[in-house]
Amino acid sequence: MASAAAVFHLLALSSLITSGLAAQPSAPQPIPAPLRDLQWGQLNFLHTTDTHGWLAGHLQEPFYSADWGDYVSFATRMREKAESEGRDLLLVDTGDRVEGNGLYDSSRPQGIYLSDILKQQHIDVLSSGNHELYKQNTSEAEFLTTVPNFRGNYLASNIDIIDPRTQELVPLAPRFKKFTTQKQGIRILAFGFLFDFTGNYKNTVVQPVEETIKEEWFQEAIQDRDVDLFLVVGHVPVRSKEYTVIFKEIRNVHWDTPIQFFGGHAHIRDYVKYDSKAYGLASGRFMETIGFISIDGLGTEKAGVAVAAPTFSRTYIDNNLFSFLHHADLDESRFHMEHGQNVSRMIEDARKALHLDIVHGCAPKDLWMTRVPYPSDKNIYSWLENEVLPDSLRDKSRHGTPALAIVNTGAIRFDIFKGPFTQDTTFIISPFTNGFRYIKDVPRETAERVLDVLNSQPRVLAVTQPGDDYRNELAPPIQRNRDHDMIATYNFVPEDKIKFEALLHQVPLSSEPSRPNILPGYMTRDDGGDDGDDTIHSPIPTFRVPNCIQASIQPDLDSTDSDVKREAVPAEPEKVDLVYVDFIERHMIEAAKFSGLDVDFKKESAVYMPGGRLTDLILTWVKENWKCVHE
Ligand SMILES: *[C@@H]1O[C@H](CO)[C@@H](O)[C@H](O)[C@H]1NC(C)=O
Ligand SMILES: *[C@@H]1O[C@H](CO)[C@@H](O)[C@H](O)[C@H]1NC(C)=O
Repeated sequence: MASAAAVFHLLALSSLITSGLAAQPSAPQPIPAPLRDLQWGQLNFLHTTDTHGWLAGHLQEPFYSADWGDYVSFATRMREKAESEGRDLLLVDTGDRVEGNGLYDSSRPQGIYLSDILKQQHIDVLSSGNHELYKQNTSEAEFLTTVPNFRGNYLASNIDIIDPRTQELVPLAPRFKKFTTQKQGIRILAFGFLFDFTGNYKNTVVQPVEETIKEEWFQEAIQDRDVDLFLVVGHVPVRSKEYTVIFKEIRNVHWDTPIQFFGGHAHIRDYVKYDSKAYGLASGRFMETIGFISIDGLGTEKAGVAVAAPTFSRTYIDNNLFSFLHHADLDESRFHMEHGQNVSRMIEDARKALHLDIVHGCAPKDLWMTRVPYPSDKNIYSWLENEVLPDSLRDKSRHGTPALAIVNTGAIRFDIFKGPFTQDTTFIISPFTNGFRYIKDVPRETAERVLDVLNSQPRVLAVTQPGDDYRNELAPPIQRNRDHDMIATYNFVPEDKIKFEALLHQVPLSSEPSRPNILPGYMTRDDGGDDGDDTIHSPIPTFRVPNCIQASIQPDLDSTDSDVKREAVPAEPEKVDLVYVDFIERHMIEAAKFSGLDVDFKKESAVYMPGGRLTDLILTWVKENWKCVHE
């Protein structure tokens, strides 16, 4: 661990304020904050996961404002630094690179800018997430473009795809690879896994991890005695039955070879100790975090088996230039690279071409997913349930019929910040293309029971297993892990609200470099303790949200309806249209069974409000209700 004396570092504040550090023109300047140093080892890693298209960084949050171009420069500078000291540095990405940001979602076809930007980074080992496999054309783009872009570095230990050119089922990418690091000569055997995902489109096959590890090729691969480190990367939560079985299977053959796991999917920072020589790192989400791992005491090609016990160290780097410059030990003029700046420009150009900065309205306040209780007036789900959906969800053919609309909380992916609501915001908060379906004339009480059943997941529904919270696809990913109370992630304390407002408006709170700002952000507690975050933050509280929310849709009575008819609609109607986001249909089918709703969804459900997608409803509502007031 970094020595306590080295903990506090600040660059001169003035140079940061004036220099235009952030690469994207509209990105906020990073805020100087106290930092912990990295502990370098023989072998070092940088890790990204669940970037979901956020390659422009966060344009409303200074701590996460670096873009993929800055990361290209950072990785190159870090590699130079490592190699100049005879060390090695490798880059890892563990999937869900697609869906979740306008840079990916808003182009037609989707992702045309993203893949070229992604490939500018040299990544040594990468794997697929579940989002790469939901749609046929997404996985085919992965197979035909991304896999070749990362020649041999993309691994798919348990994914096959039907090759669109030959119609044959083939591995999405090589199952594993063995390589030797340049400087140290560390021999690494690497795998790339996806958790036991079942929601993929039928052109891909995800083999359960438990079966893959029994395959001959895997058993043969792990027999290799000339391995200094097993490297398991995957879109798999680091605390999961999948990683537990892989760990055990490798340990059965190699009782003491070091194993480093990199995981994702859970959208959290986490570090797990499997045993004294095996650790796993999860590096958050949405380009907020660059994970760092170092390992010392490894065997090498030349020296053979290590004599000393290996030591592991982890740091979660906040994705901003203040942190990057500090860790690369460079000032701004020596940090930036032409290649990185070119990549930043590619992102800027793509954002312009996609009109992502167009302002549709101005949010009068912040709306949070989990930083405030649900329900409450600053909760995004309360806003959806009480304002957006009742105002905008209507099916003309169901004129005069009340409805109960169910939306899963996972359909919303991010908070809304006070201020401009842009084209980009639209895709950020709800990237999904899902519309609505409904069952007509359901007894109101039964419809309400369906919601109760959905909210008792995962205990009632068979779709998930108890303890497998990460398989719950209804709630936002960040919450799927809340039952694991070791993780205090992204906690927010109300007293810090004032500071946070200042942060959002990019006002430096203290101009005295000797009194560093401690601002709200990640405070991670993991198996390594509570010193993993590079930036020292104050906490942000998180509140639980249900799996699903419901909005009560009153019948639309236009001016031709008489008062008599208006009165005829009882306040508590006996029958309602049971409306739901189509993404949750298989959960609805199960929940209906438990609720005594005897319908055949295949035959009796229909599209509600054709062409009405949640994202579009939100956008239309914002345009009408959140006018920008110019001061
Ligand atoms: C996949 O198909 C959908 C629907 O036809 C389209 O909107 C999307 O842009 C396509 N995506 C890719 C990656 O081609
Ligand atoms: C950066 O872009 C410029 C202009 O397109 C090009 O001439 C140059 O070769 C690029 N440099 C790198 C390192 O990619």
